[in-house]
Amino acid sequence: MKILITAGPTYERIDPVRFIGNYSSGKMGFALAETCLAKGHEVILIAGPVKLTLSHPNLKRIDVESAQQMYEAVMENFPTCNGAIFCAAVADFTPETVATTKIKREKDDLVIRLKPTHDIAAAAGAIKQDNQFMVGFALETNEEEAHALDKMRRKRLDFIVLNSLNDKEACFGYDTNKITIYKASGEKLEYPLKPKVEVAQDILTQIEML
Ligand code: C5P
Repeated sequence: MKILITAGPTYERIDPVRFIGNYSSGKMGFALAETCLAKGHEVILIAGPVKLTLSHPNLKRIDVESAQQMYEAVMENFPTCNGAIFCAAVADFTPETVATTKIKREKDDLVIRLKPTHDIAAAAGAIKQDNQFMVGFALETNEEEAHALDKMRRKRLDFIVLNSLNDKEACFGYDTNKITIYKASGEKLEYPLKPKVEVAQDILTQIEML
């Protein structure tokens, strides 16, 4: 298969030297890419700003910075793929205007007005063909299951991988993750805390069963 994977954070520029970002390391997305490549699949890895390297003859890596750039790269490449795994922590909002010069400390306060970004997974879901699969991630702090199920339906995902912020040593920056998979078919699969490479294998196993 040819699999598109989004990974890492996005940076939304405020001025030439500042941005709004998040703590995503990209490790889960890169682990997924590595696992897919090891199993003989082709991968298009669309990565936000991360400090990770990966090389393989069947890997095409596209580095992006902002949510808008990630959106454009996904919309261009998704139609050529058998499916996609949306692992990136995409900014939901971006500054309405980007200052062309460094913002000075002149006033008592500073207001930055934000506008929504594209929901990349939902946009891909809208153009998804019946023979394409889509997998997403959810990171929730409350009502985890209800929110995850809602996202799965809204973004037209075949399954969603929930990782909870309540789990120690799971998520951002760690090499381990603890996931629950909710499938569109109604199935729920709970896994123990594992290295991200093994989590990636569990996810790929479920993709290959679709
Ligand atoms: O709605 P929420 O951001 O929690 O959904 C998470 C899922 O949607 C992840 O799979 C993430 O990669 C994807 N997403 C996206 N574009 C956005 C926001 C989230 O592709 N702007």
